[in-house]
Formats: sequence, C-alpha cells, structure tokens
Amino acid sequence: MPKEPRINHQAGTERARPLLHQHAREIQPYGKIAKLPIALDESVCALSVDNLNQVLADTITLRDLYKKHHWQAAGHTFYQIHLLFDKHYEEQNELVDTIAERIQSLGGISLAMAADVAETTIIPRPPRGREEVPVQISRLLEAHEFLLKEARTMAKQASESGDDGTNDVLVSDIIRTNELQVWFLAEHLVDVPLVRADESSSEKEPAKSKSASAR
Ligand SMILES: [Fe+2]
Repeated sequence: MPKEPRINHQAGTERARPLLHQHAREIQPYGKIAKLPIALDESVCALSVDNLNQVLADTITLRDLYKKHHWQAAGHTFYQIHLLFDKHYEEQNELVDTIAERIQSLGGISLAMAADVAETTIIPRPPRGREEVPVQISRLLEAHEFLLKEARTMAKQASESGDDGTNDVLVSDIIRTNELQVWFLAEHLVDVPLVRADESSSEKEPAKSKSASAR
C-alpha cells in the first residue's frame, strides 16, 4: 500500500502563534514612583501613594468581609441583611477601583493580590466559620471605624501637602461612603421591640419629665 504524504499542519503559521512563557524584569518596582506631569513633587506623590495603599488594603478587606457575611448570614432578617451586605460590597468594590486608579495616576503602584492585602491590612482577620448577625454587624462596624480613622488623618496630610485630588478621594468617596454605611449598619443594633411596644419604658417617661419640669 502506498504511504500517504505527511502534511505539516503548522507550516507557515509562525507569525500567528502566541509567544508563550515570556519573562522579563518588571518595569517598575513596588514602592517607586514613575513621575507623571501632574505638577506634584515626587515626595508628595510617594506619601499619598503610601497612605492610599493602606486604605486600599483595608477597603479590599472590608469589601470581602461584606461578601463573607452576605453568604453566611442567618436568621429571620436573612433576606434584608443578605441584600444590604451585597449593596455595601458593591459600593466598597467601586471604592477599591477609585483608590487603585488614584494610586496609579500619582505614578505609584497599587496593591492587588490577596496575599499582599493580607500582609498590609490593619483590619483583624475574622474566623472562617459562621457568626450570628449581631456579631457580623459589630465586626463590620469596627472595620469601618479603622478605615474612617485613618482616612481622616490621611485626608489632612494630603491637604497639607497640596495633593487636593487625594484629599478629595479620601473625603468625598471614602469618608462619606463609609459614614453612610455605618449608619445603615448601626441602626440594626438598636434594641427596639419588633411587634409589641416596650410598656415598661413608657412608664418611666412621666417620671423623667416630672423631674425635668421641677428644675
Ligand atoms: Fe450573592
């Protein structure tokens, strides 16, 4: 039997083949500023980038804490809590992008990977297990407060060094969003009755107003 001619299926396709497994030195080491023409000193950019990377790591952590609690919520408020946690997750996710792109526009490098975030964040690590809703909310409130505290200090620093753009991101985006989310969370921890009014507290009222009018 005559042999079939061998066809080289790859012949002539060299230019269309992907160039795999490429490596090279990184173009900018982490922690260095690739100066852009934005009329800010390199030292000002470096300080803002440092601060913003801390806020970024903490915002990524808070964002992920919301998703954890969104999945793991339990109890009779499940539906509304499940949705609220996801709404806040989405808002924090937008902040993550805003902060990261502010860092890049200052000529810095934004943190990105989970391991680097875990090494940097100051928000305490939660357990892997599932917690009650009041504990979830308390944990989130504490995380928000860490973020708000550092964001206010950094906003002042940015303003003093002349970096108005960073000050604006910290105040208009980070501080305002976090304060609003704190309000929505904290109201869930106010211990008011669900159906029956607490009569014992209304009995105490006249006694209070009596002493007030006596003054
Ligand atoms: Fe979901």
